[in-house]
Amino acid sequence: RRCNLQGMWVNDLGSRMFIGPLNAAGQFSGYYLAAVSAAPNAAIRESPLHGTQHPNPPRAQPTFGFSVNWSFYDSTTVFVGQCFLDENGDEFLEATWLLREEVATHADNWKATRVGQNVYVRVR
Ligand code: BTN
Repeated sequence: RRCNLQGMWVNDLGSRMFIGPLNAAGQFSGYYLAAVSAAPNAAIRESPLHGTQHPNPPRAQPTFGFSVNWSFYDSTTVFVGQCFLDENGDEFLEATWLLREEVATHADNWKATRVGQNVYVRVR
């Protein structure tokens, strides 16, 4: 059994994402619905994501990366991670992210980047 990113996932924050079919090069697109936001009074909306899953040679527990350009805010998040199979053969994703927030001046550059981790399981 191989781990595949295609489908609907939910993470430990309650954020959901949908990943569409992978093409032959391992590229995919989808959308992300964040459960939380640092945006001041912004209504959270679905945001497009684009990424790649390591396709070649076929891996059982492949690495991946994708980026989200938030539709409702001027920030960008990149996620990098790995798809794992647990002892029951169920897939889960371990991801580390970097979030870049747009700051008004270069003097605020120091506080513009956040880092964190999320775990995703399939929505059934
Ligand atoms: C923003 O507030 O700048 C836009 C939404 C960011 C949501 C972040 S991305 C990393 C972390 N994982 C999630 O599922 N949500 C937050």
